[in-house]
Amino acid sequence: MEPRELVTLTVDGKEVSVAKGTLIIRAAENLGIEVPRFCDHPFLDPIGACRQCYVEIEGQRKLFTSCTTEVAPGMAVRTQNTSDEAHRAQVANLEFLLLNHPLDCPICDRGGECPLQDQAMAFGPGESRYTEPRRTYEKPIALSPLVKLDRERCVLCARCTRFCDEISGDRFIELFARGAAERVSIAAGEDFRSPFSGNTVQICPVGALTAEPYRFVARPFDLSTAYSVCQHCSAGCNVRVDLRRGSIVRVLARNNAEVNDAWTCDKGRFAFRHADLPGRVTTPLIRDRGLEPASFDEVFTRIAEWSKGGHVAFLTGGRLLDEDAYALSKLARTVFGTNDLDHRRTFHGGHAELLAAASPLGTSYRDVERAKVILVAGLDAEQEVPILNLRIRKAARRGADVFVIHPRRTRLWDVAEHTLCLP
Ligand code: SF4
Ligand code: SF4
Ligand code: FES
Repeated sequence: MEPRELVTLTVDGKEVSVAKGTLIIRAAENLGIEVPRFCDHPFLDPIGACRQCYVEIEGQRKLFTSCTTEVAPGMAVRTQNTSDEAHRAQVANLEFLLLNHPLDCPICDRGGECPLQDQAMAFGPGESRYTEPRRTYEKPIALSPLVKLDRERCVLCARCTRFCDEISGDRFIELFARGAAERVSIAAGEDFRSPFSGNTVQICPVGALTAEPYRFVARPFDLSTAYSVCQHCSAGCNVRVDLRRGSIVRVLARNNAEVNDAWTCDKGRFAFRHADLPGRVTTPLIRDRGLEPASFDEVFTRIAEWSKGGHVAFLTGGRLLDEDAYALSKLARTVFGTNDLDHRRTFHGGHAELLAAASPLGTSYRDVERAKVILVAGLDAEQEVPILNLRIRKAARRGADVFVIHPRRTRLWDVAEHTLCLP
């Protein structure tokens, strides 16, 4: 890889060197300086829609949006921390954003983790000067069985629509009309049928888009959080699992540029209720006593007795993390003295694993993203490894030529040349 050209500038008087082409908002982040923002998202193209991230650049007569302006050598940037003008512009812009915004925070799912609420509390006007009736809409609008839109809360940042345009390619929602009438909409009778729809809820900076399974379920300060890895496919998206009173109420994507960028598919995000379903087996069952419930102590004692003869095998299923599978294989080999260990649930399965093990290519998601030519053979990426589907689309946006060989046209149809083959 060619060495990156660095640009040195100052932000609030502190010097920083960043790669050429970096946006001012990112350079400030490198120094730990946070410029307020709504529309900016590190994995989406800059758009400058919300105008909240104004900064002053010394020697320039007007303010600049830091999320759309690239750094330049010797540039001296002053954020709201050191520029009265930038601060006043942010306060004024916030007042505009709040003109029609409802006072919903106490009942809004975003309340407690909302940048608009945080900024209004930090430097917003204590009282509104707007005395006209506020704009209202029918609410909530069901974009799909999973995603609801409370339109009057929307700040028109276009994060949701850009995600659909740039990342998933599922262009079901769009910004319609202009001025005060501008709004996020979906075609009448359409359903937001995207297997990635939940990402729009996560990146909506306010409570305009909400997920049906989490609506009115918890306040952020009621939650305890664990960090995990999704087990629904081999992609291994990094996720954050939020629990309330011991039950999972929400799964969010965690950023990991090596795996899932900032996204998950809807399966990973919403298929968590099975963990708390009443029919789930929660204790060991002893088969030769007619599936009688038993304690773990009793079961482990029986397993230890059975295994004395040395005839033990482990069958795990394919959903363990690498670390867990490794620990189990150690247990099997060193404690139980057996090499009979497998994760395949069918006798004829495992071709993919054998092929992967024999392959000289250790291909990472980054490699896919940077590839110039991608050949997808026999894989419906959206269905089988959804997050790989997003990487292939990302590569296609960067100019990669994508070819798919598959018995049917896959969801990569708009970015790839398909060759149909017999199953
Ligand atoms: S619905 Fe949310 S993400 Fe979409 S434009 Fe409105 S505020 Fe932005
Ligand atoms: S793509 Fe979906 S199913 Fe696969 S790991 Fe990510 S969230 Fe889970
Ligand atoms: S964050 Fe810069 S214009 Fe919205």
